Amino acid sequence: MRPREDLSGFEPYAWEPSTEEIARTFGLRPEDVVRMDTNVSPYRPSAVMRALRSELDRIEVNQYPDTSYRELREAMAEYVGWDPELIVPTNGADEAIDIVSRAFLAKGRSAASPVPTYSYFRVATELQGAEFRGVARLEGFIEDVDSLLRACDRSTSVVWLCDPNNPTGNGLEEGTIERVCRETEALVVVDEAYHEFSGRTVVRLLSRHENLCVIRTLSKAFGLAGIRIGYLVANGSVVRELNKARPPNSIGSVNARCGAIALKSHGYVRRDVERIVRERERLRSELSRLDGVLVYPSSANFLLIRLLDRDASEVKRSLLRKGIVVRSFEGNPYLSGCVRVTVCSRRENDRFIRAFKEALSAPTG
Ligand SMILES: Cc1ncc(COP(=O)(O)O)c(C=O)c1O
Repeated sequence: MRPREDLSGFEPYAWEPSTEEIARTFGLRPEDVVRMDTNVSPYRPSAVMRALRSELDRIEVNQYPDTSYRELREAMAEYVGWDPELIVPTNGADEAIDIVSRAFLAKGRSAASPVPTYSYFRVATELQGAEFRGVARLEGFIEDVDSLLRACDRSTSVVWLCDPNNPTGNGLEEGTIERVCRETEALVVVDEAYHEFSGRTVVRLLSRHENLCVIRTLSKAFGLAGIRIGYLVANGSVVRELNKARPPNSIGSVNARCGAIALKSHGYVRRDVERIVRERERLRSELSRLDGVLVYPSSANFLLIRLLDRDASEVKRSLLRKGIVVRSFEGNPYLSGCVRVTVCSRRENDRFIRAFKEALSAPTG
């Protein structure tokens, strides 16, 4: 066996264990485990699933899907207000990140990104043998644009941006994005996975900047993380390159149809988002009252919390014993003492608040 030498020290993407495994470890029932670590919706889109069920018999699963994904692309185009020819459907936003990396990054090239950010940007960059240049954010996790631009040179072919940023929740100024587009020759990728929660988008700016590209997903506000649908929105010259790196059949026909149904009936998304945003603000105000806790503002469906005088791993473990899973960031120098919590249903959030207060009042050590 001859694995790649350049990946010998590579740090892969890290996940929390499965719900079943957590339940087994802590002696709980799987249905009592609340996933507040994956930033997905607490709501299942039941009308979409009902519509899909009624069509299942007609989907020709013995055939490959339509490789052009025309119906899905048209539904995406209608939803974002862009030309269907300039949209690339993907197997989740992660595959969109992979496709960009495969098309634009290789050994000898680099990608720059403000950090901390979504860690898959680094993973996908390094898997291409390219160099990932993380540029530390300023106070309040604001992007340091001057340093970001200084980190870019002739080798830099991608700049990864994220709005709202995962895991910090803050937004990105439109002026910042435009400046990066103007002052670098790299492809500037804006990951808008949480767009529906922020209401912001730079799709409009695509007509002004040839080197801009937007990534979206149905995994978050649409409540379809298990269906794995994402997409890229870009200009013709970029889409031509992306199509060279796109696998022909990475979205199954059933999933593609499910995505199209959801996009065509997206009214439910606004209702779910309103509920989640209301809960986010309630959670933030409840948690902000606690001593030793700093809750960062967020325009997404999660909150980043810094524990000023408690060990984040200990608090996370105490929550796990009660069946509540949050994301922690051991070893990340920018996020020491931080946990990220997905906003869930009111009942689940109340359960979290109670368990979190108990974890904070437990003796240390
Ligand atoms: C910023 C960001 N981009 C992409 C993804 C992956 O999304 P998908 O489920 O569509 O692959 C996530 C998931 O957490 C994310 O936070």
